Amino acid sequence: MPGHAQNGNGDDDMAHNVKLEFKPYDKPAEGGDVVVFVGADRKSAPSAAGLLGAELDETIARAAELERFKGKAKSVLVLIAPGGLAADRLIVAGLGEGEERARLDWTALGGAVCARLSAGGHAHVLFEAPGEAASAENAADFALGVLLRSYRFDRYKTKKKDDDNGGAPARVTIHVSDPAAAKRAWKSRAAVADGVFLARDLVNEPPNVLYPAAFAERAAELSRLGVDVEILDEKALKKLGMRALLGVGQGSHNESRVVIMRWNGARDDVKPIAFVGKGVTFDTGGISIKPAQNMEDMKGDMAGAACVVGLMHALAARKAKVNAIGAIGLVENMPDGRAQRPGDIVTSMSGQTIEIVNTDAEGRLVLADVLWHVQDKYGPAFMVDLATLTGAILVALGTEHAGLFSNNDELAERIAAAGRATGEKVWRMPLAPEYDKLIDSKFADMKNTGGRNGGSITAAQFLQRFVNNTPWAHLDIAGTGMSSPSSDINQSWGSGWGVRLLDRLVKDHYES
Ligand code: BES
Ligand code: MN
Ligand code: ZN
Repeated sequence: MPGHAQNGNGDDDMAHNVKLEFKPYDKPAEGGDVVVFVGADRKSAPSAAGLLGAELDETIARAAELERFKGKAKSVLVLIAPGGLAADRLIVAGLGEGEERARLDWTALGGAVCARLSAGGHAHVLFEAPGEAASAENAADFALGVLLRSYRFDRYKTKKKDDDNGGAPARVTIHVSDPAAAKRAWKSRAAVADGVFLARDLVNEPPNVLYPAAFAERAAELSRLGVDVEILDEKALKKLGMRALLGVGQGSHNESRVVIMRWNGARDDVKPIAFVGKGVTFDTGGISIKPAQNMEDMKGDMAGAACVVGLMHALAARKAKVNAIGAIGLVENMPDGRAQRPGDIVTSMSGQTIEIVNTDAEGRLVLADVLWHVQDKYGPAFMVDLATLTGAILVALGTEHAGLFSNNDELAERIAAAGRATGEKVWRMPLAPEYDKLIDSKFADMKNTGGRNGGSITAAQFLQRFVNNTPWAHLDIAGTGMSSPSSDINQSWGSGWGVRLLDRLVKDHYES
């Protein structure tokens, strides 16, 4: 399988762009970049001067003055290494002080530093914060940021520059006081990074390559990690009665699929938790066709499903002590002589009938059947679905927060807290009977849109009609999962949003 990078890192099953290693806190080898940390006083850890020479802080102070570098958190100063230093370049990274320092996101710092390291080079990070013992957890978080930042998707570029490693450093050595502890802390982060990379790859892939059956095959590769993977084809879906989902796919020559992934990391008698993803591998809108402008972005309409696969990868790779189900509905929404029409009425697996008034409101039709199936068959402790569901969520929240809808305050608050901890932020939106009645239909039990106003909310109300008493949360990731702005730790079009958030949710509350 072609990976996102070809040069393997040896430590785990996925290839990384950057070779990362943890070594004792010691004088770094000659050449390359050397990274040191400073506070707002622009003073390095005393030990750094011990290793690099007594003039270190004086050099930093002079350069900082000239460059107006204030040592603020995540600010980075790059210097040609002064004579007497064995390195080629000296990179000074700010940690800030006080409140700023206390709130420092080490993963974001790793990303900000990675951006300034020399392409294809070897960097040594003297991981000791001035005035503090370096923590193994912080070092591992920093390494995660370096790795996430280095991600490139260049599989389809035939002309690669061979010496710059796609702009990322080739090797980063993190010098810590306790390398064994840092390596232990790194293990679970590496699993999460691989899950994020997998999700990004899936979102970035073009829609002619990643059609539903091909996506299902990619998910099936998780069986190598001990995940049970079941692929339901159209025959099986018909038998189950998933006619809402099948109606969306019926205009495409690419057959629909549902994939159920199961990771059993806890005792058999522990109820599973479930994650459900929208996997529309391409959304033309169907007969209610979308305008041509930016339609190519609709290859990312499977970001919810990609996140679920990435999350299952992360949980399995770090052997999370949890029973988790990942379920994805994979369809292609195309106009065609056999495509679903506005006006059609379909019977969902739940038995409820749906009048299709707009074939472009297809994601909710897919999720309706998958949510119902998961609830019915597995009786999960909770369900979280992720979907690039509505353009309206972009209007409401932009690209900084995903929309969160839930029937359960405790679950909602746990997700919000995981969002604050990982930087994958969510904002709670309302559900209420007044919104629900907007999707009542003249002809069927409901219709598939509630009009322009509150479009993200009526979409969520629609999903809620397929959830009984199971605690449930819906994340509308149309603004965060694809085409979102780049950040310290993400330069990719497909962000892999949600993998770190939900991994954190599991880690903080659901591992036995
Ligand atoms: N996949 C789109 C939503 C979307 C829009 C995702 C922009 C990412 C970026 C979804 O299937 C859709 O077309 N929704 C319609 C719903 C409407 C017809 C009620 C929308 O948002 O316009
Ligand atoms: Mn659509
Ligand atoms: Zn869609």
